[in-house]
Amino acid sequence: MDMPLRSLPDPLDDYPWPAAENEVPKEVFSREDIYQRELVRLFAGPVWHVAAHRAELPKRNDFKTTWIANTPILVIQGADGVVRAFHNACSHRGVMLETRRRGHAKEFECPYHRWLFDDQGRLRACPAEKDFIPGFDKADNGLAQVRCEEFLGLVFVTLNAATPPLREYLKGLEPGLETVLMGDGDCQLLGYHKTIIDANWKLYRDNDGYHTPLLHKAFTWLNWQGGKGSQIITEHGHMAVTADLKPLSDTGVLNDPSLLEFKAAIRAGGEGPQAKTAVIVVSPGTLISKALDLPIIRYALPKGVDRTEIHWTFIAHRNDDPEMLQHRIRQANMMGPSAMISLEDAAVFNRAQKATATQPPNTQFVKGYRPGMNLAEAGQNDEVGNLAWWDLYRRQMGFERGVE
Ligand code: FES
Ligand SMILES: [Fe+2]
Repeated sequence: MDMPLRSLPDPLDDYPWPAAENEVPKEVFSREDIYQRELVRLFAGPVWHVAAHRAELPKRNDFKTTWIANTPILVIQGADGVVRAFHNACSHRGVMLETRRRGHAKEFECPYHRWLFDDQGRLRACPAEKDFIPGFDKADNGLAQVRCEEFLGLVFVTLNAATPPLREYLKGLEPGLETVLMGDGDCQLLGYHKTIIDANWKLYRDNDGYHTPLLHKAFTWLNWQGGKGSQIITEHGHMAVTADLKPLSDTGVLNDPSLLEFKAAIRAGGEGPQAKTAVIVVSPGTLISKALDLPIIRYALPKGVDRTEIHWTFIAHRNDDPEMLQHRIRQANMMGPSAMISLEDAAVFNRAQKATATQPPNTQFVKGYRPGMNLAEAGQNDEVGNLAWWDLYRRQMGFERGVE
């Protein structure tokens, strides 16, 4: 007897999100089914992701590979100067096409059956094509293209047709991005570090202004807590924390205080974007910061529910003189896998990951929080600024808030 097909109810449809708007369930960092829903609703949802900066593919025919969660992406600057993004998979039997992190190529050849694609993702040649299925047309078998738009050299991609235009998505974040990308975004690549953190990607993106000078000794040298600054929260959950850093002249630790010099600010007489500092979270998972003279793009790439790869991308301005380039490279020693700040972050995120099954079941955001407040009004050193994104996340994931 034929049984009618029916779909099983998804237990996540009735997920009990806490009633208190300043609480987040710990298990969102560790439940596999929640991660699987994120892949569909968030990473493949109506969201832009930072895939690259033009500094990483500065010349025509340069390319970079990356991931949107579990989807490999190939970003190419075509011979025509246009940056395009594709699913990084051969259109024949789905083999990943390019495995190098970056490079320069006019063509991309799949190793399996040697299909050949050009810099615009078009299929150019396939061995034994005369024996193919009748009507096979190379023009219909190029790489699957991904929507791609740029702002200040940042290359954003989205897997979803319903994602709003990029400028609308970034609304309110433009001044912060100008600060971290040194005004015009005309950048050159200094190099990469990679950190692998045994923690959920959301613990990494949940950067808050509260912990900055408390966890990170290096930020006290920069006089973060005592500096003037602000926190801007946008409609799409992006966050920009600005700071007016005044590095200590004597840290009691550094033999050479010039490591902490804010050279661009001194040269500019304290004026203009190069004289400012900011830490930005571009939702969902990219941090872009400029502390003193050190601009960094940090791509937080989820590799499962409890593992995140951070690709630290160090950049400089294209017009930097040799002295400034050396200075930025020296300051890179404050960050990255062997430096203080990322070690400390990785350690606490891993400890949070290990404790997701503990009581009480929810984490709480209290610094700067007042019930009924406008969540977008956070002070520089508050953690309440994170809640606007968490509310967006809750809605994107289809979780109803409980009733108090
Ligand atoms: S899978 Fe790429 S050519 Fe066959
Ligand atoms: Fe941190």
